[in-house]
Amino acid sequence: MAETKLFKYNESDLRMLDEIGSILRDGGIVGIPTETVYGLAANAFDGSAVAKIFRAKGRPQDNPLIVHISEISQLDKVVSSVPAGAYELAEKFWPGPLSIIMPKGERIPDEVSCGLETVAVRMPSHPAARAIISAAGVPLAAPSANLSGSPSPTTAQHVIDDMWGRADAIVDGGMCDVGVESTVVSLVGDKPRLLRPGGISLEQLESVLGEVEVDRAVLAELEPGQKAASPGMKYKHYSPKARVIIVKGSFENYKRFVSNKKGCAALCFDGEGSKLDIPFIEIGREHDSQTQAHLIFDALRKLDEMGVQTAYARCPDTDGVGLAVINRLLRAAAFTVLDVDGAMMIGFTGPTGAGKSTVAKLICEKYGFAHIDCDEIAREIMSPGSPILMQLAQAFGEDIINDDGSLDRALLASRAFASKEQTLLLNSITHPVITSIAIAKVNSFTLEGKMAVLLDAAAVFESKIDKLCTFTVAVTAPEDVRKERIIRRDGITEEKAEERINAQLSENEYEQKADIIIRNHLPYSIEKEIGKIIEAYKERKQ
Ligand code: TXA
Ligand code: MG
Repeated sequence: MAETKLFKYNESDLRMLDEIGSILRDGGIVGIPTETVYGLAANAFDGSAVAKIFRAKGRPQDNPLIVHISEISQLDKVVSSVPAGAYELAEKFWPGPLSIIMPKGERIPDEVSCGLETVAVRMPSHPAARAIISAAGVPLAAPSANLSGSPSPTTAQHVIDDMWGRADAIVDGGMCDVGVESTVVSLVGDKPRLLRPGGISLEQLESVLGEVEVDRAVLAELEPGQKAASPGMKYKHYSPKARVIIVKGSFENYKRFVSNKKGCAALCFDGEGSKLDIPFIEIGREHDSQTQAHLIFDALRKLDEMGVQTAYARCPDTDGVGLAVINRLLRAAAFTVLDVDGAMMIGFTGPTGAGKSTVAKLICEKYGFAHIDCDEIAREIMSPGSPILMQLAQAFGEDIINDDGSLDRALLASRAFASKEQTLLLNSITHPVITSIAIAKVNSFTLEGKMAVLLDAAAVFESKIDKLCTFTVAVTAPEDVRKERIIRRDGITEEKAEERINAQLSENEYEQKADIIIRNHLPYSIEKEIGKIIEAYKERKQ
């Protein structure tokens, strides 16, 4: 563990600057403030110094770094040619939050470019960053100074939290102004291409370059195996430990949706939090993208300090700097976006033998609700040859795939349920896909004019599908009734029936977790019982 020296930046302290400069010249790595986010800097010409950055961050080896310069005269030392448009961009937006991808110069080692023929260059505007680059006397390669995968640091404290004992020094220059990382634009292809939105907006780029293509990865998830133009865009980024879900729609519907959600918090706009009944963090006024950018990473870190399990984020505007905010939020949310103005999502579950499917059918016929069978989605995504099946084989052993390419469910189950970690691993592979398919289906039911959708799954609570739902319903019946039903229905022995029943949550747990209980057994009238659902629906849809 390295000893980390902490400096409080003071522009008139030349001895301090000298010391920081020599740490960098000697191959050290230093956390430095910039106007976007804090960077973890090393001499860009020194491959072994740069390698330390990757180790300190736990950064994947194929994700190249941005080279920071303080004078335009340094550009020639880091690129082999300056493409058309680059000087115009520099003239207008440097120093500032813009990184330009250009052909790489000879002195830039592979450690910086990760084997690419190109290099990203930026001239930061933060006085401390510029003074430190000057003091070092060399361009500095610097990624954001967070541990790989966690939110970028916008205060010195964030850097201390992630890099203490990993960096040689950290320079405290106060809170970063912009708050999201620089815009990354590539000038090496046929057309200028926006790879990462940031402090300089698409509109600003186009005012200089004319039309700029927006890389698909800016707003959409890459398909498995698809190559990222900007390697950084393929990683799950900026994630707090809490699960983030972006919620589209009016504030009124948002408010009703998050109401009473236990263990959850709201990431909302100024003035909204006090109207909610769950803990909240406000990130600026509704249409103030600048402030939202400034606060977003700090807010994501605060969620974890609050010990929140799920955070519901209001959906920001997507123009101007807003494009950068939604880009970072989408990654933090693993692309989960709910539309609370659309069809209401109702979690629907119950233990085996309670008659869940029969009751679901009854409800959908009576009220015109749509039905999504999440267990069927789970089976479909594991069909022979599917990418999920490959991932499962990688995680749990190739022998879980039968000779005909199908999944050996029993073998997978025996391995995946052997320990808590293994179960989590299984869930981390399957749940995000099931979630995104289910949401896509709900969106198309919304377009068809459906008012509500039953999200039917055996494990609504275990899979955390309940967190996507406005409310949840459990269909129940006493254990002896259920046992008798499944023995009759599936022609199995009493012992087998008990085994199945014991593998699930108990009756009691369903009753505690679900918002509404439908008792599907005598002496209750099922007609009357399902009436509770339409009441709950109406209550939440005013
Ligand atoms: O604002 C910023 O840009 C901050 C501060 C410290 O300057 N730095 C930063 O660096 O955000 P980092 O490493 O976290 O993000 C760099 C992004 C990554 O997505 C990376 O894949 C992309 O830029 N990138 C770097 N060089 C590239 C290249 N030659 N071609 C394509 N993408 C590149
Ligand atoms: Mg980063």
